[in-house]
Amino acid sequence: MAHVYWTEGKLDKILEIRRQKGRFIEPVNPRESAKMVDFGSNDTLSLNSSGLLRKAFLDEVVKNPDFEVGSRSTRIFEGTTQYLLDLEEYLAGLHRAESALFFPSGYEANVAIWSTIPQPGDFVVYDEYVHASIHDGMRQGRASKRMFSHNDCECLRECLLDICKSNPAVAEGQHTVFIALESIYSMDADIVPIHEMLNLTKEILPRGNVIFSIDEAHSNGLIGENGSGLVCHYGLESEISIRLHTCGKGLGSTGAAVLTNETMRSYLINYARGLIFSTAPAFPCLAAVKGGYNIVASKEGDERRLRLQNNLSNFYEKLTRHPTWAKCAFSGILSLPTEKVWRTGDFLTPIIPLVTEPGQASSLARKMQSAGYQVNPVFYPIVPRDKERVRLVMHADNTSAQIDEVVHLIMTWATSRLANQLQRSDRPVPEGDMYQNVAFSD
Ligand SMILES: Cc1ncc(COP(=O)(O)O)c(C=O)c1O
Repeated sequence: MAHVYWTEGKLDKILEIRRQKGRFIEPVNPRESAKMVDFGSNDTLSLNSSGLLRKAFLDEVVKNPDFEVGSRSTRIFEGTTQYLLDLEEYLAGLHRAESALFFPSGYEANVAIWSTIPQPGDFVVYDEYVHASIHDGMRQGRASKRMFSHNDCECLRECLLDICKSNPAVAEGQHTVFIALESIYSMDADIVPIHEMLNLTKEILPRGNVIFSIDEAHSNGLIGENGSGLVCHYGLESEISIRLHTCGKGLGSTGAAVLTNETMRSYLINYARGLIFSTAPAFPCLAAVKGGYNIVASKEGDERRLRLQNNLSNFYEKLTRHPTWAKCAFSGILSLPTEKVWRTGDFLTPIIPLVTEPGQASSLARKMQSAGYQVNPVFYPIVPRDKERVRLVMHADNTSAQIDEVVHLIMTWATSRLANQLQRSDRPVPEGDMYQNVAFSD
């Protein structure tokens, strides 16, 4: 008993330190968030909030009256049901892949891929902003790892050249280089420059000992024919050997599919510990996934994707044309990493990163939350220290009036900070600041 108290005391102290650093996590209160307008969740096509997914799920239940609720075992035994195999075949077809393997979550799927597939002597070269689950998988894996700066093709080139120079076995094609990317990055909402990356890799590794992997968590359901994703949108299915499509965002449910060839699928079934030593996903989860796909692959899905795009253009148009936007952006009160590109791409991503000055993201988030709009502030270490932000997520069913109000709230907050900043700059510079300035210029 004494040990329990002792450990609890230790844990409390650690939690208190976390709280003092402003990094204590308290999940959103569901009773509170239910009353708010959703500009925070990943339900970007509004399949949950509209009730459409519930209906599609119940339709699946009716179509399969003999379903068993539980899954009874792991994938390597009775957990592999016919319904699961049919779903995997359907997913492979929709995403134009040789095969699909379903996992209970995207996290589990990434851990499975990166802890098993790259072999000793191989290299994994990854974008600095890839998801935590890819890092956790790589940590358990046996390949060497190299990071390159976010979306930076020159940095990727240097990294590959360096690997080839110091590892003749790679240059000679005896070991493989895996390149770990995401289609859309979850914090800056920018898109991977995949064509450029494919081209430069072909130059540096002409023997073809390279495997590209793209995590499509943020493009699944939203881009491409039937929402099939970025790789299908660009017609690059044959170039990208591993794709991960999660179902917890645009699809509105949970789980994920790894799209790859039969060999890698079989390798995962044989070596992915999370899949071997854990009960397989049960029918209710699979039926929700199938229900979600039935919607996104229909006319309703096309209409929802279009509405989402229109809402996003409407938001960007209104925010960036606001009379004080340019001043606020120039003075660093707010910046929008997507501002320069939102007009030029062939689609917009539903994540809108509103980067504030350090220490200000909570204040903007509180302003919006107290007006009834659910948004999430994001801090270090999820984003760099000087890039904290309010992460706004647009949905197909957000209305034009809600978008107007959100823009109004953001700009009222930013304009009042701008006024404060101007007042501050009228005051004489205090001694301490002068010293800082001198020290800095030295
Ligand atoms: C890029 C990316 N990969 C993987 C995951 C994990 O997916 P899941 O939520 O299904 O575990 C997420 C979710 O946050 C993600 O953003």
